[in-house]
Amino acid sequence: MTKLLGVIGDPISHSLSPLIHNGWLRDFGFPATYEAMHVPGGQLSSALESLAKRDTVGVNVTLPHKLEALALAKTASASAAKIGAANTLTLQQDKSWTADNTDAPGFMSSLRDALQTNDLSKEKVLLLGAGGSARAVVYALNEQAIDLTILNRTPSKAVSLSNEFTNAKAAFGDLSQYKEYIESATIVINTTSGGYSGDIIDTGPGNGRLFYDISYGAAAKAQLDDAKLNGWRVRDGLNMLVAQAAESFRIWFGEEPDRILALKRCQNALEAAE
Ligand code: ATR
Repeated sequence: MTKLLGVIGDPISHSLSPLIHNGWLRDFGFPATYEAMHVPGGQLSSALESLAKRDTVGVNVTLPHKLEALALAKTASASAAKIGAANTLTLQQDKSWTADNTDAPGFMSSLRDALQTNDLSKEKVLLLGAGGSARAVVYALNEQAIDLTILNRTPSKAVSLSNEFTNAKAAFGDLSQYKEYIESATIVINTTSGGYSGDIIDTGPGNGRLFYDISYGAAAKAQLDDAKLNGWRVRDGLNMLVAQAAESFRIWFGEEPDRILALKRCQNALEAAE
């Protein structure tokens, strides 16, 4: 019988996760299908209840459900518990859910790839946003004592997230102050979902510095086009998306899928959609 997997979110129609996972399911010949599931905020619990009645293996969870996903799971990995957010749920025999967070390892491998180094100790990182994805970024960055500043539209969330960064003291502030901080940063990481509503950060001159937006496709395009014009070296979240997807696939099936092939499939799909 065909098993079910999917990604739950709102919005969700832009998601490339079905393309990635269905590609891998075909590559391995697994009788399963991975669907995009549109579930508005506040309805995750009932969506999980109906999925638990079906032949479901697991689901990815994205905006705006990552914090609630952890709360609804019966058990959680140490990293998901520490991050306080989950992006991967696995259905257990007893119909309960186990939560994992594969954003943190996915983010770190993509950042190392962009910088071509494992040593971030000299970097001055400006992190924009303090939601579920930002929590995973901070958890990953906490491996090293970097210079970190966190800015968020709701500053109180930046304050509490800065306390999670224990390896060094992290500064925090209001997103509206970003121009003050951006000049001295060596890397800017944008985790806000402003791109979905067309809100762009005026980056100023980049002089070859890295502007990394963890979204991809249409949500990242306007921001990254603008940053690129301003001389930033830009990265979107495609590498991270594929890396976190591969970690989820490994959790569900115990297999290591082909990341390079998945990246190519995503790039082709985005190009075709332009
Ligand atoms: P995710 O799991 O992708 O991080 P999230 O937890 O809903 O999603 O977090 C979204 C982040 O984008 C938050 O930092 C949010 O700011 P608030 O904490 O103030 O809500 C930020 N965000 C959302 N829309 C934004 C906008 N239009 N401009 C700036 N920041 C925005």
